Amino acid sequence: ARIRHYKWEVKYEYKSPDCFKKLVITINGKSPGPTILAQEGDTVIVEVTNKLLLENLAIHWHGIRQIGTPWSDGTEGVTQCPVVPGDTLKYEFKVDRAGTYLYHAHYGMQRESGLYGSIRVSVPDNFTEPFAYDYDRSIILTDWYHKSTYEQATGLSSNPFVWVKEPQSLLIQGKGRFNCSSASLTADTCNTSNPECSPYAITVIPGKTYRLRVASLTALSALSFQLEGHNMTVVEADGHYVEPFVVKNLFIYSGETYSVLIKADQDPSRNYWMTTNVVSRPPNTTQGLGFLNYYPNHPRRSPPTVPPTGPIWNDTAPRLAQSLAIKAHHDFIVTPPTTSDRAIVFLNTQNRINGYVRWSVNNVSFTLPHTPYLIALKNKLHHVFSQTPPPEGYDFVNYDIYNVSKNPNATTSNAIYRLGFNTTVDIILQNANTMTVNNSETHPWHLHGHDFWVLGYGDGKFDMNKDPKKYNLVNPIMKNTVPLHPYGWTAIRFKANNPGAWLFHCHIEAHFYLGMGVVFEEGIDKVGKLPSSIMGCGETRGVGRP
Ligand code: C2O
Ligand code: CU
Repeated sequence: ARIRHYKWEVKYEYKSPDCFKKLVITINGKSPGPTILAQEGDTVIVEVTNKLLLENLAIHWHGIRQIGTPWSDGTEGVTQCPVVPGDTLKYEFKVDRAGTYLYHAHYGMQRESGLYGSIRVSVPDNFTEPFAYDYDRSIILTDWYHKSTYEQATGLSSNPFVWVKEPQSLLIQGKGRFNCSSASLTADTCNTSNPECSPYAITVIPGKTYRLRVASLTALSALSFQLEGHNMTVVEADGHYVEPFVVKNLFIYSGETYSVLIKADQDPSRNYWMTTNVVSRPPNTTQGLGFLNYYPNHPRRSPPTVPPTGPIWNDTAPRLAQSLAIKAHHDFIVTPPTTSDRAIVFLNTQNRINGYVRWSVNNVSFTLPHTPYLIALKNKLHHVFSQTPPPEGYDFVNYDIYNVSKNPNATTSNAIYRLGFNTTVDIILQNANTMTVNNSETHPWHLHGHDFWVLGYGDGKFDMNKDPKKYNLVNPIMKNTVPLHPYGWTAIRFKANNPGAWLFHCHIEAHFYLGMGVVFEEGIDKVGKLPSSIMGCGETRGVGRP
């Protein structure tokens, strides 16, 4: 195993990713940042220097379980204090499983300012994957706002609530195209001939097979992804091999990664569209466009066709069908425990607290304490967060998931779920109507520090007696991010076997910002000595000093 050492400088720069000029957070001058390339078993060291001048920083390694290094998870408020301007923090962790992962900011809503990138972990030398391809490429899909994170966060935290509305564009690997003439903008602010916003192109050699690693780190949008004239065979999801299946539209939610295989077997005299579209919300965002460039055509030559539009935005059925189609590859099944020790139900709702809009689970809206949980737990600083256990479920009998709640009031809490070490835990995510009539949103839930088995999805209200009998215990896929579909439920199972404090939250930036998350603790007595570099905030000053 090798050590992969990176040195990053994080700063704000003026960039025009979709032709509109705004402040973007870059790593070593780039957004998306550098791709981390490693092999299974390697150690990754990233020394991050905060040159944001006026803003704190934390970087999370999304999908890396941080076994034995829970302090390197990069989750501000949970596993570390923020890195203050001018400071450098060294993250060090092992990439213990091959696959497609991500990194991104985990401080406030900083991710949507452009601080993100890919982690690609290759298989060990003597290992053969269950599929073959000639070349490997990665892209990350994001949605992009023209307003600053500050304007958005201030609007979300205001009463009356100010919603930023839909993103202006969709970016493919950091490139998109806003129609500058649609708004009265000067050429200095928005210029479609700026090379920074030329469409992203993947060049392919006719006849070859490509593994395309597609990831989403949208702030808000659920997406579909298409390659004009090409089928995609899904072979990997969140670092686990999938029993292959073919799609024309790949639905992808924020925090998910997939590998698809594509064969460059179409008419080689032209290029093809790569498109991404918003689904699950009324599409008021320009379609994201890129090119599948057949060598030796010019990579900027537009295809002769009209870009294919994606599937209908408000049809949940094909999205649920894709979720159900994802099973573990038959040679790589990790069988889940047949029973669980504890089952927790999380009702997902939009609420109002003293007039402020919030998101909640079981009517509790999550807030982060000033002292990160990992440091507080390890040092028994129990007064820094609420010790009242949060609720394990909701009023199943009386709660009507199909209508606006009669009482949308909720409470806030920073209490956490304490899990028995090595126990098996089931989580049932239950969706409901928002505060808007006839509206239920898609929530992609992401678990830090673990992979979980996806036991099932369903429509409507989860039935504690009947639905567990339908769980897939034969070949469930393992993932770290899973969608909760509108008015539906999603059931997952995991082993609480990774000592630390771990966030589980909706990956929609504004939803987590407004309280849609929980923290799990397990085996805290087995966590090794915490590095002093993660301290400095709240009551962590002086911790560990004689
Ligand atoms: Cu990718 Cu807690 O997030
Ligand atoms: Cu959400």
